[in-house]
Amino acid sequence: MRYSDFTAGQLQSELEKVREEYRMWQSRGLSLNMARGKPGLEQLELSKELFSILRFEDCVADQVDARNYGELAGMPCARQYWAEMLDVSPEQCLVGGNSSLNMMYDLVAKAWTNGLLHSPEPWGKLDHVRFLCPAPGYDRHFRISQSFGMELISIPMTAEGPDMEIVEGWVKDPHVKGIWCVPKFSNPDGIIYSEETISRIAALRPAAPDFVVIWDNAYCVHEILGDYRPIPEILSLCAANGNADLVYEFASTSKMTIPGAGMAVVASSLNNIQYISGCMQAQVISYDKVNQLRQVKFLKDKKHTLTLMRQHAAILWPRFHVFLSALEEIRPLGIARWTDPQGGYFISLYTKPSCAKRTVELCSGAGLVMTGAGAAYPYGVDPQDHHIRIAPSYPPLQDITLAAQLFCTCLKLAALEKILQEKN
Ligand SMILES: Cc1ncc(COP(=O)(O)O)c(C=O)c1O
Repeated sequence: MRYSDFTAGQLQSELEKVREEYRMWQSRGLSLNMARGKPGLEQLELSKELFSILRFEDCVADQVDARNYGELAGMPCARQYWAEMLDVSPEQCLVGGNSSLNMMYDLVAKAWTNGLLHSPEPWGKLDHVRFLCPAPGYDRHFRISQSFGMELISIPMTAEGPDMEIVEGWVKDPHVKGIWCVPKFSNPDGIIYSEETISRIAALRPAAPDFVVIWDNAYCVHEILGDYRPIPEILSLCAANGNADLVYEFASTSKMTIPGAGMAVVASSLNNIQYISGCMQAQVISYDKVNQLRQVKFLKDKKHTLTLMRQHAAILWPRFHVFLSALEEIRPLGIARWTDPQGGYFISLYTKPSCAKRTVELCSGAGLVMTGAGAAYPYGVDPQDHHIRIAPSYPPLQDITLAAQLFCTCLKLAALEKILQEKN
């Protein structure tokens, strides 16, 4: 039965019961953390071989010595690897260091100091820069824009990706310089952009000549359930729409091998790659090609990578399943809805309005750290205070069971407090 159908008396006695349940959790002195989407130890162990796969003597490939300076765009085999993964050409790929987020920041910084290929002037010289932020989204994307003083424009997410009507409206404003996109298994909703959404993005006609689509394909092969699901290749679609220089695509091996110790890539039009390589001359001689070589030796090619990703999925899926099953218990109460992700690293849960912060606070009071409520919205503010991002990948399985049960108690308590407050 739904809480909204409870009588005042039933609500009061349910509140007392759930408060008692909560006190029981508090007395257990737990210390659980489901805040960030990090792979767990079992997943890291899948990449053990990386630590012994490359000998000093084996560091020359395609006549390039990985142990020395040079080849700013990366080891040829690494460019080839990413070209296959992203369905583009090796010349369109610049393979960088250990973090795609760092490369995204770097792109925005270049736009700020130098401008992008079609910028009339660097963004830093403009009075006002706006950036489109599909929300809920990846907090660290939004933080990049915010750190440069841009105005963050919240774009609602639909089941097919960002609401394109709203996006198409905003791009008519010349102050709007770009959009953050996670096209596959979006963080945190796990949405795969529909073909129509992707086509409409590729066909945008922004007023700003240097408008940029930051296409963060972080979860390009990160199915946790079912077979690999390709999405339309954005760079060629843009080119076909006369928008060849519109998109910079990013990806990395962070959640394929060892996070923070892998290789990242930016893929774009040849003109864009040439442009940013030119800017990079002032910044770096070459990235860590030894690591690039090591990663490629381990991951080999797309087919082999997909096999590895199935092993990741076999570890990840039970964690998601345990949490999702526990949530089923509260479904009849009608106090929350949540996503049923097929890939990526998160479950998104939507509480009744004005209950997310309180739920997370209650969790923390009983030893369970969740991502701060609102973190997935621009400026960290969820106008409805209703979204909670759940990251089940990192804790051991038995902790997730406990965390899920405790979370349900907190959710119930926050909802009951709110309903009773509204009734009084
Ligand atoms: C959407 C998205 N992009 C990028 C990253 C970070 O990638 P990297 O480790 O390559 O910097 C994450 C990590 O959670 C992410 O969720």
